[in-house]
Amino acid sequence: MADIREEVARRRTFAIISHPDAGKTTLTEKLLLYGGAIQLAGSVTARKNQSSSASDWMELERKRGISVSSTVLQFDYEGRRINLLDTPGHKDFSEDTYRVLTAVDAAVMVIDAGKGIESQTRKLFEVCRLRGIPILTFMNKLDRPARDLLELMDDIENTLQIHAYPVNWPMGAGERFKGVYDRTTREAHLFERTARGAYRAPVQVAGIGDPAVKDALDADSYREFVEQLDLLAHAGPAFDRADAAKGGTTPVFFGSAVNNFGVELLLKALLEHAPAPAARRAVGGVVIEPTDEKFSSFVFKIQGNMDPKHRDRVAFIRVVSGRFSRDLPVIHTRTGRTYRLANAHKIFGRDREIVEAAYAGDVVGLVGYADFGIGDTLAEDPEVSFDEIPRFAPECFAQMFNPNPSKYKPFAKGLEQMLREGVVRSVTLRDAPDAKSVLLAAVGPLQFEVAQFRMESEYGVESKLEATPWTLARWIGPKTAAGAVDAVGLPMKCARAKDENGAEMILFPTEWSLQYLAERHPEIELLRLPPKR
Ligand code: G4P
Repeated sequence: MADIREEVARRRTFAIISHPDAGKTTLTEKLLLYGGAIQLAGSVTARKNQSSSASDWMELERKRGISVSSTVLQFDYEGRRINLLDTPGHKDFSEDTYRVLTAVDAAVMVIDAGKGIESQTRKLFEVCRLRGIPILTFMNKLDRPARDLLELMDDIENTLQIHAYPVNWPMGAGERFKGVYDRTTREAHLFERTARGAYRAPVQVAGIGDPAVKDALDADSYREFVEQLDLLAHAGPAFDRADAAKGGTTPVFFGSAVNNFGVELLLKALLEHAPAPAARRAVGGVVIEPTDEKFSSFVFKIQGNMDPKHRDRVAFIRVVSGRFSRDLPVIHTRTGRTYRLANAHKIFGRDREIVEAAYAGDVVGLVGYADFGIGDTLAEDPEVSFDEIPRFAPECFAQMFNPNPSKYKPFAKGLEQMLREGVVRSVTLRDAPDAKSVLLAAVGPLQFEVAQFRMESEYGVESKLEATPWTLARWIGPKTAAGAVDAVGLPMKCARAKDENGAEMILFPTEWSLQYLAERHPEIELLRLPPKR
């Protein structure tokens, strides 16, 4: 039987974060190509053009341009086993995206070099930073006119408050992009354009003074490139590996995913900078090491309706320790029930394969266990219960009601299931409880749409949504004295509420009203994450 230590040591589990259109799908595809998991580029993006008849779920996917079905892609590269977790919610944002980031050990941030840091990248980056995981940056689309390269570095540092260290530097940009120069190995990697990068691009390596480098660039580009390298050499400190491991420095790599430029270098860097699966904290301050003999895991994502023919529901677990096997009795800590997880699958795109064994860092899809909810622990040891997956302050609120009173029961059942799975959250208003509707909260409007879609297709009930004035929420922190919030007048249209766990919140109509309260009343502690229970 495989040795747990060896299996853990060779695993790397990461996600790609980016703003829509920066090139996440293309990069994913190219990484799979280099990893040998697909032969020709095209199979990942092909889903964008799915015919509408594929399935209901796929239809929502196609309509909204989101990727919900891939979840995890696993491949081997240079002796390592790589788990690439998909961050769903493509054009739109959802809590699922955040949750995936609680299950990875590193992230690759893709930035469009023509645009710089965009809004969604910033949000996702914040989550990575909260967890202190290493972040590698891939500056994409160098084959197109890019913003000033040094400005792009400043943009990362100023906007994200992280140190950016360019490990390689582009030789020219746009039409004149000829490759990248690795500042750590002092090697130049020259690339050739291939038709839409469908095949592995040939890579040639030479030194910086090599005539091959000079010849590749026109005189102006070469001069600029040498100047920039010189500036970088004098501008900042050397690469701080330890700081990068803590997420304080991001190593930056340049390239063009669609043309295969720089993708292999990024993949190799990932093996170097992304850590093996980390230990995880459980309730009571216990730390579970990935190499512990006993199996433990937590549910980080639930996907309903993946195969509408079977109305199935998949709970995705990330293995934290030990060896997963299908006949192993495991305890669902929240209910105390014992399960044998015979319906365990590895899910690659739409293909499913039975999983026989899995180790820390791996993701397993468990089909059909209705009791499992987001954040639940499944472990051999009944004493292990992992800390809750942090939830993030919602930014979308809507009242949901049932337009058909005769369907009261299935409506309530459907909604309860959506709330249990964490598809959407509910919030209770303190001052205006309305028994006829439920106030739903989400980080992105897509979550409402998915809940409505699933309630209709799985429970046969229609639902209606009504807009509310709120766009932001904060939890009231423990430093706030009792009665302090009652003592102040909240800005117009703000409301007091409680989340599902009874934690007190304030809902705000605008960023301005939040700032107003924060500035006038510093005695009220306002938190983006719920206080620890
Ligand atoms: P996303 O998943 O982050 O949303 O981005 P995606 O990979 O779908 O890429 C968005 C668009 O950017 C695609 O073009 C893709 O081909 C293009 N792209 C990705 N990497 C590069 C690059 O290095 N250089 C250039 N020039 N373009 C790149 P599209 O027109 O939306 O789709 P398609 O018809 O090309 O597939």
